[in-house]
Amino acid sequence: MWLAVKLFSFLLLLQPGIADTNDQTSATVNRGSFQNPSARLRPRFRYWLPDSGVDAEIVQQNIKAAGSLGAGGVEFLPFYNYGGQLGPAPAGSNWSRDGFGTEAFHSMFLAALHAHKEAGLVMDFPLGPNQGQGVPADPSNEGLQWDLEPFSVSIPGDGHFDGEIPGWGAGELVALVSAEVLRSTNSSHLQLTLKNGTLTDWASKVSSTGSVSLDLPTSQNTYRLFAFYQFLSHNKNLQYSSTPAKTIFDNGSYVVDHFTARGAKVTTKFWEEYILPGGVKELLMEVGNYGWEDSIEILSNISWTPSLPSTFQSKYGYDLKSVLPIIMFSNNNINTQSTQPGAIECLLNTPDHGLGYINDFRGVLVDGYRSYLEELTRWVNSELNLQMSAQVSYNLPMDMESNIPFVNAPECESLQFKDSIDGYRQFTGSAHLAGKRVISNEMGAVMMKVYQLTHSELLYSINRAIVGGVNQMVFHGQSYTGEYYGTTWPGYTAFLYLFSEMYSDKQPSWDHGFGDLLNYTARVQYLQQSGVPRTDVAIYNKVSGTDPNFPTLYTANDLIDAGYTYSYLSPDNFALPEANVHDGTLAPNGPAYKVLVITSNSNLTLSGVHYIQKYAHAGLPVILSGGDPGVYASNDDRDKTSIRKAIQALKKSANVYSVSAGQVSAKLHALSLRPQVATQTNGTWYTTWREDSQTGIDHAFVFCDVNASTGTLDISTHKTPFLFDPWTGSKEPLLGYTQSKSRVTIPLSLAGNQTIIIGFSEDEDISTKHATNTPSSVIGYDTQGNAAVSASKSQQSLVLSNGKKVMLPSSKVASSIVLSNWTLTAEHWEAPSNISDASTIATKHNTTHQLVSLVSWRQIEGLTNSSGLGYYTTHITWPPVKGSADGAYLFLPPITHTARLYVNGHQLPPLDLTAPQADLSTYLKKGSNALTVIVPTTMWNYIRSIADEIETVNVSIDSLMAAAGYGLPQATDNGLIGDVKLVPYITVKL
Ligand SMILES: *[C@@H]1O[C@H](CO)[C@@H](O)[C@H](O)[C@H]1NC(C)=O
Ligand SMILES: *[C@@H]1O[C@H](CO)[C@@H](O)[C@H](O)[C@H]1NC(C)=O
Repeated sequence: MWLAVKLFSFLLLLQPGIADTNDQTSATVNRGSFQNPSARLRPRFRYWLPDSGVDAEIVQQNIKAAGSLGAGGVEFLPFYNYGGQLGPAPAGSNWSRDGFGTEAFHSMFLAALHAHKEAGLVMDFPLGPNQGQGVPADPSNEGLQWDLEPFSVSIPGDGHFDGEIPGWGAGELVALVSAEVLRSTNSSHLQLTLKNGTLTDWASKVSSTGSVSLDLPTSQNTYRLFAFYQFLSHNKNLQYSSTPAKTIFDNGSYVVDHFTARGAKVTTKFWEEYILPGGVKELLMEVGNYGWEDSIEILSNISWTPSLPSTFQSKYGYDLKSVLPIIMFSNNNINTQSTQPGAIECLLNTPDHGLGYINDFRGVLVDGYRSYLEELTRWVNSELNLQMSAQVSYNLPMDMESNIPFVNAPECESLQFKDSIDGYRQFTGSAHLAGKRVISNEMGAVMMKVYQLTHSELLYSINRAIVGGVNQMVFHGQSYTGEYYGTTWPGYTAFLYLFSEMYSDKQPSWDHGFGDLLNYTARVQYLQQSGVPRTDVAIYNKVSGTDPNFPTLYTANDLIDAGYTYSYLSPDNFALPEANVHDGTLAPNGPAYKVLVITSNSNLTLSGVHYIQKYAHAGLPVILSGGDPGVYASNDDRDKTSIRKAIQALKKSANVYSVSAGQVSAKLHALSLRPQVATQTNGTWYTTWREDSQTGIDHAFVFCDVNASTGTLDISTHKTPFLFDPWTGSKEPLLGYTQSKSRVTIPLSLAGNQTIIIGFSEDEDISTKHATNTPSSVIGYDTQGNAAVSASKSQQSLVLSNGKKVMLPSSKVASSIVLSNWTLTAEHWEAPSNISDASTIATKHNTTHQLVSLVSWRQIEGLTNSSGLGYYTTHITWPPVKGSADGAYLFLPPITHTARLYVNGHQLPPLDLTAPQADLSTYLKKGSNALTVIVPTTMWNYIRSIADEIETVNVSIDSLMAAAGYGLPQATDNGLIGDVKLVPYITVKL
């Protein structure tokens, strides 16, 4: 029996699709190999299904095409014109029939699952239409979203109020609070200062018809009355209604309550009743990956659920209702409603102006939202044996870091985080601490970049996310390629042209290089999802509501300059079981932070400071930077004194140090706490470090931000370094480094945006000989110990690790040449003559151009408004007439989009877009050799030239951009731009 069970689970593991609910870095998953990562470890596309009425066969083809390109599957998002927010159901569509959860949806969902199964892929699935924030439901369902609306009126000077209370009828009365108003100002909104101690709730005195009689004390100030009503908001994540509503599908889809488990249950019950039967559940268990919810864009007056007053009372021991006037401002969606925080802001005449009440309110929102997330996660885990992913918390007024640990695969995004590495560090710290195996990212949405986003821009965003601690990309996004209502070529364009990108085979790069970037991403994910991430420094960060613009919190450069990695933790995370100190490190089995830094612009909670005291006692160095931190207000700020005392006590404790701002790195150095990967460079390098005890291989991922730079890495390890090449999937020996017992020092020269991945292994074979210096003339090195040496002005030499000096034959090597005389055959990809034909890829025709130098298509006559493929050809005579050569490298200029290289018709391995170079030797023959570089363009320059003809759901690009207040974005540079250099070399056996 035991054996049978073991064997069965072993067999399960061998199947590509089988997931389980272990979300920790220790989980056993089918990983594939570095060369060819498994589907689960590959990036996915966010796929926009226009509605369930489209052609299921085309959907299946699209999914399989994503798989052939190198994606692991799609995140199958039923879009419905952004949940109806960008316009109603287009003429001809029927969203009662084709809505979320209908029979039509059910067949479409099955078709999508089948396509994944047939192609060996895995699928993510939003739990509702559009962003997954709710499901079709009976409008009376109390698990739907609630709102709390405030109304207010001032009380006459005699303190007497008699009559109907303000807003009566708006919903169920929650509180009727009177308060004495000390001051009133009015700029963008009415700001009132209320007198502490005068806030009184009279709700119990209100009659069944909504009237009340109050006699408040008279003073020189007036009183004001605030009434609060709760009601089901009936906000929809699919704005659609067909009257009379005969089924729940005639109402579109309602947003559910995000502050109770009850809200989550509305969603899960809907799935059990309408989606899982009829074969979906079984298939989903086979090829499903993540149940998922997008960033929270739900709207309200005040974030609310009816149980908040009682959960508040039990958490904080005082009454929420009487302080509601203090929390009624800026507690809705602080991102999407940032310009509508509320009509009235009330402050208290106390030192913290009532901030403690706001913080406490947000504290119960955190708890409520946690129950919601935990219920969804529990359900996806137990019902489907799959995992839950969500863009946790941000946009709503809560400390994002508190709840990130409570889904299996927390997700952030490049758009809202603005590619900010510091922003990512705010997201990933608590996930790393909690041991999450996957931290996902919605990658590549850029406003006003539709059909224009280049792959090098995408690569930049990916690399910044990776060094911010993210390790999975979901590309935004993939288009349905068939016909849709009111839609011309080039087909269905989600978000009405506002956001990049629309990936499909209509993009010239789809079959000509985009796959190289997908493989790059897959291989980086393979490594970044191995072992455990180690982070040098934890930075304390407690906020009541995470700023959705993610400003940089640690603004000094000292840590980055020295190479320290860091991420942020909320004191709420200190309650996690992983947050313990051992051997002087925090979370020794996870990030193993060497130090906790507290900056003066952060605020300590009482429990936070107690944890920190405990950590310092247990041996964790704690550094206070820039002065004493502030106090995180709670209630009426009564903990202030105790927190201040605790900070003073902390400062006197062993292992606790105070430094001025920007001096953390110097202090760490003085404490001999060096960065795992110390950097010294004239540019900016970011790194990550992961240790994989299963394979014994550790690795450093190094990203050179923006500008080319040189320098050295100094890594604390006793293992031997080698290179992982994520572009080709190969592992290569590293030629130049020095090694001592505990450190490896590597000189590096990196192009802007370039990454280099260095593996470290005990296995000496992986590297052959190495040298302690790398002369500039050495342009390559292989596993056989051969160095490729190019010409140089003076003789160079190389010192091997065994001390042997090798003189390099640089002077007799043929010199390098810049290739010229290019013939460019431009394959123009244009709209079909019938522009309403949305499913045709393109009609194509060629033009030929002789180029003296390689310039942008914008500067080539006849190509300024063109998109498509450039076939750049020139000829190389081999061997060179002067000097000797055993082979040659080709160095290309940085590639904006993608490029593929062919010699005499043979395709060479993928190029690193940022520093493209290739060894041509095995492809060169004697005589004339044809060299071709195929360079796709973005679709923009052509689309731009016919913008007035292009429509999606009856909206044209130029009308949309005009309406949105933007002009049509400029034409962009395309093609191969810069010098292509042939560099001959001689092989030297080391
Ligand atoms: C505010 O009023 C409450 C209730 O009367 C009182 O307990 C508290 O001490 C006051 N706070 C301040 C800062 O005066
Ligand atoms: C991606 O890598 C896999 C595994 O090496 C390979 O089979 C596939 O052809 C590559 N894709 C592209 C587009 O080169």
